[in-house]
Amino acid sequence: MSTRACPQRVGILTGGGDCPGLNAVIRAVTQSLLRQCGAEVIGIEDGFAGLLCEPARARRLDWDAVSGILLLGGTILGSSNRANPLASAQATALALANVRRLGLDALVVIGGDGSMTIAHGLAQQGLAIVGVPKTIDNDLYGCERSFGFDTAVATVTEALERIQTTAHSHHRVMIVETMGRWAGWIALESGLAGAADAILLPELDYDLPTLARHCQARLQRERYSVICIGEGAKAQGGAPTLQTSPALPADGHPVPRLGGVAHQLSAQLQPLLDAEVRATVLGHVQRGGSPTPFDRVLATLYGNQAAQLLLQGHFGRMVTLSGGQLGQIALAEVAQQQRTVPAGHPLLQAAQQIGVCLGQADRDRAHRPPLDHP
Ligand code: F6P
Repeated sequence: MSTRACPQRVGILTGGGDCPGLNAVIRAVTQSLLRQCGAEVIGIEDGFAGLLCEPARARRLDWDAVSGILLLGGTILGSSNRANPLASAQATALALANVRRLGLDALVVIGGDGSMTIAHGLAQQGLAIVGVPKTIDNDLYGCERSFGFDTAVATVTEALERIQTTAHSHHRVMIVETMGRWAGWIALESGLAGAADAILLPELDYDLPTLARHCQARLQRERYSVICIGEGAKAQGGAPTLQTSPALPADGHPVPRLGGVAHQLSAQLQPLLDAEVRATVLGHVQRGGSPTPFDRVLATLYGNQAAQLLLQGHFGRMVTLSGGQLGQIALAEVAQQQRTVPAGHPLLQAAQQIGVCLGQADRDRAHRPPLDHP
């Protein structure tokens, strides 16, 4: 951990996919710095893309600029998940030169794992950086809750509740696909909250016959089923479902884009079931809208904590929540890591014990309710 004098001019950017609560962090960082040390806060536009422009795209954030934004979804600064200052030596040099030209003596990076990996790379080049964990996926290493996740779970849960009633009316098997990349946190928590009958995660490849048996048994009793599936999930022996035309980022390396596994699963299940199977892909609706009260508070605490780290001269760190307490972790530990749902997680155990199908042949069979249950 390095320590330096309190920064006087601080840059702030939002990198990667947007999520609810970004503005709450921008507001908290800005207000905390303005109030505590009068530092000037400079908002960099469109994430690292703004830092890679000549000249850099940036504007001053004063008290008025961040007033009234706590409830707003998205980010007032804009974001980009394609620009990467580490993509080439020239890009890194340009980013560092722009930080110098803007007169920044510290930078707050609000982002997910990609942004934290970039932040770590820039910190290694000598930049004073503090990271703030953002992502609806909740998959940042060393942090038990990123802001944005709670709002996404609330959105998916509401969707599941709505799907439940139409599935019931039409005696259908309805599949709801969530985001989350290679982590099943959104599907798991919202599946439990939205009373899904089966929850399928990227961490647990599903056994199609087991899932079909579970749905068929439910059709004979309740006459409908709701399945919640994370976009990165796949059948045992199968491959993840990718969209056909991944976007080409600035560094020329295509980023695989997940999406559509619900339709894939629908096609696999339909011949095995005596009911119509339909798929709903929730997509970006999960990233939009106003943050929940929980996310507003968490984002505010994170933003303020980031300001405290800056004031104390603790750089190269990301603020975290661990054991319910605010903390910090070295960016070096976070970079290029992911936090997925571990085998045996209490939520998985609880789901199985109450009879939710996780698509696991042995374990689900043991917990399958008898066909004649009331
Ligand atoms: O990481 C957040 C996330 O929403 C993932 O859940 C999803 O796979 C991805 O971003 C989608 O990104 P994009 O909007 O670039 O397609």
